[in-house]
Amino acid sequence: MAIDQAVIEEIKFRNSIEDVVSQYVTLKRAGSNLVGLCPFHSEKSPSFTVFVNEGNCHCFGCGAGGDVINFIRRIENLDYPSAVEFLAKRAGITVTRSDDDKREARRRERVLEMNKLAARFFYETLMSPAGSEGYDYLTRVRGLSNAHIRHFGLGFAPNDFGALTGLLRSKGYADHEMATAFLCGVSTKTGRPYDYFRNRVIFPIFGISGDVIAFGGRVMDDSKPKYLNSSDTPAFKKSRNLFAMNFAKNYCSEQLILCEGYMDVIALHCAGFTNSVATLGTAITPEHARMLKRYTKKVVISYDSDEAGQNAADKAFRLLGEVGVETKILRMSGAKDPDEYIKKFGSESFRKIIDSSETEFDYKFGKIMKKYDFSITGDKIKALGECENLIAATPSAAERDIYIFDTAPKLGITPDAMKRDIERIIASKKRNAEREEVRKIITSSEGYGDRVNPDYVKNPRAASAEEAMLGILMLHPEYLSELSKKGDPLSADEMFTELGKKICSALISIISAGAPDESALEGLLGEYLTVEETERAMRMRISRRMLTNNTPAVLIECKRSLKEAKSKNELDISDIISQKRERSRQNRENN
Ligand code: UTP
Ligand code: MN
Repeated sequence: MAIDQAVIEEIKFRNSIEDVVSQYVTLKRAGSNLVGLCPFHSEKSPSFTVFVNEGNCHCFGCGAGGDVINFIRRIENLDYPSAVEFLAKRAGITVTRSDDDKREARRRERVLEMNKLAARFFYETLMSPAGSEGYDYLTRVRGLSNAHIRHFGLGFAPNDFGALTGLLRSKGYADHEMATAFLCGVSTKTGRPYDYFRNRVIFPIFGISGDVIAFGGRVMDDSKPKYLNSSDTPAFKKSRNLFAMNFAKNYCSEQLILCEGYMDVIALHCAGFTNSVATLGTAITPEHARMLKRYTKKVVISYDSDEAGQNAADKAFRLLGEVGVETKILRMSGAKDPDEYIKKFGSESFRKIIDSSETEFDYKFGKIMKKYDFSITGDKIKALGECENLIAATPSAAERDIYIFDTAPKLGITPDAMKRDIERIIASKKRNAEREEVRKIITSSEGYGDRVNPDYVKNPRAASAEEAMLGILMLHPEYLSELSKKGDPLSADEMFTELGKKICSALISIISAGAPDESALEGLLGEYLTVEETERAMRMRISRRMLTNNTPAVLIECKRSLKEAKSKNELDISDIISQKRERSRQNRENN
């Protein structure tokens, strides 16, 4: 076991599930439990339940949940040891790490050391005669001063296959380490490493704490690809980091400007907008959104004015809306991106367009109005339909009314007519959502689309007997030895699904090492299973807990029925699958 169980208990004790979950979810009391909107899937009515006394949570909609560690694992996207560490930090507890963890931490440190050396090398090269081409590009073409270059630590990678790799090797770094850090590629012919960034100006990417975690490198002409970026390394995940967040973090509590490009952010910081950041060669991710939620109240999306930028904005609105950050969008004309805008019109003018940035509704409404020609009846009807759908998607009835009264005159219709249409749309959406819910329940009970346990569908009877057994065993670990005493010991091989085998064998190891108490079990399972698998196991336990007859006799009966179902179905699996195929073929034909 990587981390001492007593420490885990202490960590759980000092991070109550209620406290931790409520940092991410707005919870309301419901009896002895708390409920809220599930943070792991989109829903309108709360099915995420926190069982305060039991110290765990469960979403009855999507199945996510577990104890406080599992919750953090999922919501912060961490592995088990990192989630424990996260919570330990939160509670001010020090955790001693296992050898594996130490090795991983060492790998990360080595990457950071190499990055630091590389950043210094790139910067020094830029400032030396060897970097004159890069220096000329950044200063003359892009208008940056030496102070700007220094602040962002910009650099230049010479057109040389061995400059940086040679330097790092001389400092004692092995080829495979440089490859891990994404500072070199490895030649398929010779197996030798070569500099990954060549003949490019370099943008180092800093982590929140100021370490150089990655690099982006831009060509100085129109060749492709325009940017090369570090891929993920032990010290860097692009889905979780933002360019210039290390600077912006102290200036963004009220408002943050989210851009697309490194150059936009640099131009903005130089013009005094130190609250701007950009994603790193990727569209915004849910992790970014959650991170932004922790740092700021309001995000102004300042993407490029081209179509790609505008499509990316739709995604940003959605993800930021989901985490509850107020989001607006910059309306920019006469320039393709913030960098160009500031160069053309100056920072005062940029300040003005930031201050008059639009809400999601105004922005989307404006887009519809622009798209159609209102002198054509057909166009007008299409525009009306799109506007009504847009308004129907607004959850608040009062807000919908405001939009209706504002927009109806612009579309040349009465608010009453518009309101009736919108109510119809909402009702039909609700029906569809209910239908979809039913469909999901049916397909998931048949095991279709079950990624966590794909074997379920092959023999639902065996799989459900298996789930019942595992559920009972989790509630009563002591039954394991009772089975052995009765001369009918349990083995993982008896299980039908691969997942069942995995859970069973984890349970046997855990229980044999000393029967864990209920609250410890989940953490222990987490060391053998993925987050989803642990959740599934916990769901088995929850389903059994709702029943009262979790006796050894029931466990034995399930064992027998599992065996029977397995023997019956061993031959039938292919039949079942072909039957299902046939049925869905018929359904298609009937539709
Ligand atoms: P842009 O093409 O808008 O780049 O791409 P930019 O930063 O504004 O640069 P300039 O002003 O043209 O010099 C936006 C972002 O998309 C990523 C980079 O993160 C870039 O900053 N990108 C773009 C890549 O990762 N690779 C590419 O080839 C192009
Ligand atoms: Mn750009």
